[in-house]
Amino acid sequence: MGRQSEIDRREAGNRLHMGRRRALAAVLVAVFLAGCSGDEADEYSAADTSAGQTVSVSVPDLSDVARQGGELFTANCSECHGPTAGGSSQGPPLVHEIYEPGHHADFSFVRAVETGSPQHHWNFGDMEPVPGLSPEDLNKVICYVRELQYANGIFTAPAGLAACEV
Ligand code: HEC
Repeated sequence: MGRQSEIDRREAGNRLHMGRRRALAAVLVAVFLAGCSGDEADEYSAADTSAGQTVSVSVPDLSDVARQGGELFTANCSECHGPTAGGSSQGPPLVHEIYEPGHHADFSFVRAVETGSPQHHWNFGDMEPVPGLSPEDLNKVICYVRELQYANGIFTAPAGLAACEV
């Protein structure tokens, strides 16, 4: 075997190595993008939902504010988000790690209700704005959802219950 073909072989080896590294980089980028687009919700997609709530929610002793929020929730939100925010065939559970305070702060609830929320985490379609709730009402609704989340271990830092401090 001549010297030239030895060099050719080494270069071919190098190219193969580079190709593998590029493929690995592409995989890492894909994984990163999947993480950002909220694909973690896929396992809870609309196809999996039945007539009842998507997740079972245990209801704790609610504060007064949360209790009032619960009534508003039943009237305005439970049709899609389930009777105790555990989801339905029309909308996702809000007692879910996706909606913990660190990921969906209280203002994202305000925004969803006031301006709607285009489909992005699930397959239920868009959420339309929900009219008729004052800022105080909305705060009570958020308190209700937060107390349910807290009681069901979605988050542990009491700071997440800020909406209940009124
Ligand atoms: C007609 C059905 C429907 C009603 C009524 C409804 N929602 Fe929604 N909501 C949805 C759907 C569907 C989504 C999920 C959109 C997605 O991420 O794919 C959603 C998403 C949300 C989100 C997440 C927004 C975000 O930033 O990702 C919040 C918070 C929320 N709803 C709160 C509420 C509250 C509070 C009420 C009552 C005042 C309410 N929704 C009423 C269907 C509804």
